[in-house]
Amino acid sequence: MRIDGRTQLVGVIGWPVEHSLSPAMHNAAFAALGLNWCYVPLAVAPGQVEVALCGLAALGFRGVNVTVPHKQSVLAVLDSIAPDAAAIGAVNTILIARDENGVASLHGYNTDAQGFIGALRRGGCEPQGKRVVVVGAGGAARAVVHGLLEAGASRVTVLNRTLERACKLVSELGDSRLEAQELTPELLLRAADAAELLVNTTTVGMWPNVQESIWPAGVAVPPHLTVFDLVYNPLETLLLRQARESGARAIDGLGMLVEQGALAFEIWTGRSAPVEVMRTACEQELHRA
Ligand code: ATR
Repeated sequence: MRIDGRTQLVGVIGWPVEHSLSPAMHNAAFAALGLNWCYVPLAVAPGQVEVALCGLAALGFRGVNVTVPHKQSVLAVLDSIAPDAAAIGAVNTILIARDENGVASLHGYNTDAQGFIGALRRGGCEPQGKRVVVVGAGGAARAVVHGLLEAGASRVTVLNRTLERACKLVSELGDSRLEAQELTPELLLRAADAAELLVNTTTVGMWPNVQESIWPAGVAVPPHLTVFDLVYNPLETLLLRQARESGARAIDGLGMLVEQGALAFEIWTGRSAPVEVMRTACEQELHRA
């Protein structure tokens, strides 16, 4: 990659950011399309978000991704917030626009919900009319549940270890198709039996805890189920192995990372993203780690 006086800059703000796959994913996409753009990791400490964004605008950055722990705190600094991001209450992509006088403005988007739905469809599962079980009630779950409701899921049951958090998510998203339950093996099996899609949004099963799964050991996954795990390290989690070995469809979390990145790429560049190139770059980066 050649950096010169015309190189356009984007990046990711987070704390920490050193394990992010996004620089490899976006720089591979820029290279594939011959774009003179560069994506850099930007470690921004909690409490430094506002000054960081002002600095990026002044430095001519075209935009940034936003990751943990800044997805909510950036909201207060933005000039506009897209409807998806407002409904989810979090921003993962910022476009820095400039008027004819060079005055910058910051526009917030959330590509996680659409990214999830895109990855689900790419994996062969259409959410419209489906009954879905979502495990977890954190930030990732909010985006997933919003995406599912927008895409026409007929029922979304949110199970969480801490029931109050599931209830809070359900009441804040406010939709009659939503219900909250505590995450217990019995309630999970019952809900999964009555659903077509199971989504894990928790960190259970993520490296180094690769022997953990939300699904009880020794119990078959209903084969009619599609199981989507947002965890992508490892690519095949224990949950996805349990699904595959039971004959259920398994979709890994890398697809969502790539799709949300592809949507951000399109917001910044106005070009259609090379999704396969981006996925391969992520896989190579995961193998390298
Ligand atoms: P994110 O924004 O990535 O979703 P988060 O807000 O920290 O992250 O949420 C993590 C989710 O994983 C929560 O739903 C959490 O459950 P609690 O609300 O009860 O904390 C869930 N989680 C994490 N570790 C878990 C475990 N060992 N068993 C069950 N759920 C777990």
